[in-house]
Amino acid sequence: MESGFRDYARNDRGATVESGFRDFARNDGSGGDGRLARMSKILAAVAWPYANGPRHIGHVSGFGVPSDVFCRYQRMAGNDVLMVSGSDEHGTAIQVQADREGLTPQQTADKYHGIICEELQQLGLTYDLFTRTTTNNHTEVVQELFRALHANGYVVPKKGMGAISPSTGRTLPDRYIEGTCPYCKSSDARGDQCNSCGKQLDPIDLIDPRSSVDGEEPKFIETEHFYLDLPALAGSLGDWLATRQDWRPNVMNFSQQLLGELKPRGITRDLDWGIRIPLDGWRDNPMKSIYVWFDAVIGYLSAAIEWARRSGDPEVWRQWWQNPEALSYYFLGKDNITFHSVIWPGILLGANGQGDRQGKPSAYGELNLPTEVVSSEFLMMQGGKLSTSYNRVIYVRDFLAEYGPDALRYYIAVAGPENTDTVFTWEEFVRRINTELANEWGNLVNRSISMAHKNNGCIPTPGPLEQVDIDLLETAKQGFTIVGDHLKKAKFKLAITEAMRVVSAANRYLSETEPWKLKDNPARRDTVLHTTLQVVSDANTLLTPFLPHASQKVFEALGGTGVWAAQPVIQQVSEEGGNPYPILTGDYASELATWESQPIEVGRRLAKPEPLFAKLDEELGKTGPSWAPIESQ
Ligand code: MF3
Ligand code: ZN
Repeated sequence: MESGFRDYARNDRGATVESGFRDFARNDGSGGDGRLARMSKILAAVAWPYANGPRHIGHVSGFGVPSDVFCRYQRMAGNDVLMVSGSDEHGTAIQVQADREGLTPQQTADKYHGIICEELQQLGLTYDLFTRTTTNNHTEVVQELFRALHANGYVVPKKGMGAISPSTGRTLPDRYIEGTCPYCKSSDARGDQCNSCGKQLDPIDLIDPRSSVDGEEPKFIETEHFYLDLPALAGSLGDWLATRQDWRPNVMNFSQQLLGELKPRGITRDLDWGIRIPLDGWRDNPMKSIYVWFDAVIGYLSAAIEWARRSGDPEVWRQWWQNPEALSYYFLGKDNITFHSVIWPGILLGANGQGDRQGKPSAYGELNLPTEVVSSEFLMMQGGKLSTSYNRVIYVRDFLAEYGPDALRYYIAVAGPENTDTVFTWEEFVRRINTELANEWGNLVNRSISMAHKNNGCIPTPGPLEQVDIDLLETAKQGFTIVGDHLKKAKFKLAITEAMRVVSAANRYLSETEPWKLKDNPARRDTVLHTTLQVVSDANTLLTPFLPHASQKVFEALGGTGVWAAQPVIQQVSEEGGNPYPILTGDYASELATWESQPIEVGRRLAKPEPLFAKLDEELGKTGPSWAPIESQ
């Protein structure tokens, strides 16, 4: 299996260099890099965005920001995180967009993979590897799991009816067929699902089917496909699901319901854009490919393998996939739940030889099933679901260009669709940024550092502490336990609310102690300022997973040097003989942030601070920005 291809990276100037990726490799935690052994291996498996367009804020509120907040916290807490994902590049979603733009599917995937890498990098999402599904490595891994499932009897061929265009004789992908839903009679149904009632459909179920390409009525002919025999995995899936704890109720209830109605599921398609079926008699058929969802979920494994290879230790992925102690968290939006809580665990059980028909493990050995599937709900816009076709859309790149990454990260963490569908409004955005980020947090940082800068020029020396000082320091210390417990459980709203409670406590403390009135008592003033600055530092640590860019600035404003919160970088890499492509990766293990109170150093020079967050014009709440005006939403 291990083909041992050699990789190289290009530096920014375009010169080919031996991969700098190697520098980011981690050892097994036994030391060597001078840091403490890390506690748990945590795989963070983040849903793969389709490479069919730029991302909108709904996408990143589902998979992006929650996963990164979680991973940043886990690293700060000393755990060894492997965060993987990539662009989902096969299937009809990409084919449709390619036709629209007059490009080939590969050109389309290349274009949007590059754009998505930039957007996710700018948002500060700390993937160890964000790759893509059109790599040879991914193809190899997908085909091996397909073969293993087939050999174990969980993938079976079956004949059914497929649609073709009568004039061209070409197969029509499910999504290209429109018609009336047999369940709710809405005319808004497609060959894969009904947009009104959400039911999964087969094209042949549609009443009055029409090709969306040319309006023709499709012809149905017999076609043979492979099915994942989910009923043969139902017993083991049920046993596994029963052992899961702490899942959000939306995910658990939905998954349990699905288990009750499992049917064999088609995992190949009459489509040329996709991974070939790795069986004799099928392999060479250019019109048959593996279903995009079967291919994409396997990316979690293939990306870990690619990462290991690039890190110079090709076997190290096993520590996250085979070690029974390792934990794995999957982050996604709710339209992806089925695939992560049933189909993917089913694939893993079958490939492991652990379904009702038993069998032998694939070439990758026995693989871990998900510890937890963390799903968010939908981010809505006033007027309905975010939708490019209705022009109800806010693109990530526009948002970042105007307001920067941390404003978006903050909004999603505090007001995003964590547990229920949630409407994004500009009014709420303005209110949150102005009152919470700018007034509460930004002002606290600014006031306290400015006072110490003006009075002392450095971090002042504290005298004896009074009860009010002790209480505030204690509130901040407890924050590490309280916020950490919420973050461990992926409860982001509670976590950030508790972190902001520390900020409020520090503001109240300043109003009560009034250090600006202590000209005649400089010793007491120094104690108050020292206490405040210590709590600013602690609150900054608590906010680091949410506001990594701002946290770096606060760290520096407090006189710190070095990388407090690490950021991802884009690298050009390639497989042997292949074209270069961008990935996201980064050196996160050496960042200075840790999940504890780090004592500030007396005497450290302080400069006059810059404002942390700019206040937004209240008008924005009423009108929206010019590139996403409220009328059109
Ligand atoms: N591309 C899919 C979507 O946007 C998500 C794929 S997640 C994966 O809905 F795990 F399957 F990759
Ligand atoms: Zn319907």
